[in-house]
Amino acid sequence: MATADALRYTRIPLTPGSGAIPALGFGTLIPDPTATKQATKTALEVGFRHLDCAERYRNEDAVGAAMQDVFTAGKIQRKDVFVTTKLWNTNHRPERVKPAFDASRRRLQLDYVDCYLIHTPFAFRPGDEQDPRDERGQVIYDPGVTLIETWRALESLVDDGRCNAIGLSDITLDKLREIVAAARIKPAVVQVESHPYLPEWGLLEYCKLHGIVLLAFAALGHGMKPSLLEDPVIAGIARRLHKTPAQVVLAWAVQRGTALLTTSTTPSRIRQNFDLSTIPEEAMQEIRDEITTNVRFNAVVKTGVPGFIPQVG
Ligand SMILES: NC(=O)c1ccc[n+]([C@@H]2O[C@H](COP(=O)([O-])OP(=O)(O)OC[C@H]3O[C@@H](n4cnc5c(N)ncnc54)[C@H](OP(=O)(O)O)[C@@H]3O)[C@@H](O)[C@H]2O)c1
Repeated sequence: MATADALRYTRIPLTPGSGAIPALGFGTLIPDPTATKQATKTALEVGFRHLDCAERYRNEDAVGAAMQDVFTAGKIQRKDVFVTTKLWNTNHRPERVKPAFDASRRRLQLDYVDCYLIHTPFAFRPGDEQDPRDERGQVIYDPGVTLIETWRALESLVDDGRCNAIGLSDITLDKLREIVAAARIKPAVVQVESHPYLPEWGLLEYCKLHGIVLLAFAALGHGMKPSLLEDPVIAGIARRLHKTPAQVVLAWAVQRGTALLTTSTTPSRIRQNFDLSTIPEEAMQEIRDEITTNVRFNAVVKTGVPGFIPQVG
């Protein structure tokens, strides 16, 4: 168990040879490029050492510019930051993987990427249109490529030496099992929605057994209703421990052995989200036992189409 002061610096070892991932990650799913650059710089300055990016977010160049500013200022070096980015659904065909990866690296201004993920297991029609639709507005999927074929292309990126670790996102346990069984290089990271309203204990157990890091997105419930941060169990623990609800939820995620992603464009919240310390075992247990609300906020796992769904009521 990490001591109170060290929790925020927790790093989780990746499959042998791939280094370690900082448990606290800052997500860059921020629509506005100026806000992306500012928030990314703030995140690095307050101490975040893991940035989560994606070609789909269309702002890798803003993240790259933020990193360059911070590296040039001299306080943080490239090697100190763990950068994850993701292959979009329209680039699943093996011949499209390396060009997509290199384009992400160029936009991020990086020689190498620490972790590259297949953003979703759904292949869309290949091309420059990220959201291809037919005349009825239905997504056009690509039946001409399998997930394992795309995975093999990611394995080649590791062989080429410009990508240290590879993994999957928005994947179900069944599909993950298939890839683990067939892979030459096993997934090091699996990124899925997870928080106390969607703890994914079964997936976490499988990941721990196979040395895979579960990287939880929407760690604070994406600010949506029902509000995790207003949950009476979370709020009660926060009051008792003199922490904010967000700090309780993020500490819970780290202490149960996941890495996490949180996002904010508010400097004081970015700082608050890094300023974590360990919560007592009773509080961990209380969250596990007392919270019965079960909500998935993002339907991407079912369709490959990104987007948080507003909950009714
Ligand atoms: N693989 C995938 O399909 C996928 C899907 C979604 C997200 N992601 C990744 O996961 C990252 C995090 O996801 P997320 O945006 O859902 O994260 P989140 O941290 O659960 O939600 C962000 C929301 O919470 C608010 N917030 C942040 N800190 C707070 C605090 N201390 N107190 C109160 N509210 C707070 C933010 O508001 P303000 O900005 O107004 O402060 C923002 O509205 C994304 O950036 C992206 O990198 C991946």
